[in-house]
Amino acid sequence: MNLILLGPPGAGKGTLAGYIKESLGILHISTGDILREEIKNNTDLGIEAKGFIDKGELVPDDLVIKLIEKVLTKESNRKLGYMLDGFPRNESQAKKLDEILKKINKPIDQALYLDSPLPIVIKRLTGRRVCRKCGAVFHVTNRPPKKQNICDVCGGELYQREDDNEQTIKNRMEVYQNSTKPVVEFYKKKNILRTLDGDQESESLHDDLLKALNEDGKIH
Ligand code: AP5
Repeated sequence: MNLILLGPPGAGKGTLAGYIKESLGILHISTGDILREEIKNNTDLGIEAKGFIDKGELVPDDLVIKLIEKVLTKESNRKLGYMLDGFPRNESQAKKLDEILKKINKPIDQALYLDSPLPIVIKRLTGRRVCRKCGAVFHVTNRPPKKQNICDVCGGELYQREDDNEQTIKNRMEVYQNSTKPVVEFYKKKNILRTLDGDQESESLHDDLLKALNEDGKIH
């Protein structure tokens, strides 16, 4: 099963991806997570990307395309299904992705669009807390950790992402509307788009999705 997750910042893409990864055993490839890891490790790529991420702008296409191509074409990943989270983010990335997938003969089965209203995603972003050690995602009210600021999974410290501040969130939303929303249309035209109501519990969203994919014969 090869999937793409689309939706505004804070729609719940990463959270849903966590459930899907467990149930379908496919690769979860998040360009945001990969870039944050590069920043943490102070690599040249991380240093370059940080300026864009902190402002809520897109990192240049050539950098993220190279990252995606490297992961998708890696020999040990060839036999696994994939779930792309945060990529593609504009039409030129979508077209480039088509070329890469053609080369490795792994077409997209379904593009999932998490449709979540703006006031909801803003609340989700401002309340999000992430584990510094394992990357698990929590929310101060929606998914609070058992112990304040401590990760339930590994005991690591929870932190607030630097781009989860009001000004950067505003920029990210604008970038989403102008550059990423057209990608939803791109997949609609290809007849592989499925719209999901993002304003519901991630667990039930995941259960409904699996049921629908099963009924459509997409899970094999
Ligand atoms: P990225 O990391 O991809 O961020 P994003 O798209 O803004 O998405 P988020 O990670 O903020 O949100 P999400 O939808 O995954 O929500 P989550 O599940 O965490 O990108 C960051 C930056 O990197 C970009 O701005 C850009 O600069 C750069 N970048 C990345 N990819 C790029 C690309 N392809 N090209 C160029 N630049 C790129 O949930 C949010 C919160 O809500 C959490 O607290 C969670 O607990 C809670 N929550 C989730 N689901 C629910 C639910 N159903 N009910 C209640 N609460 C929920």
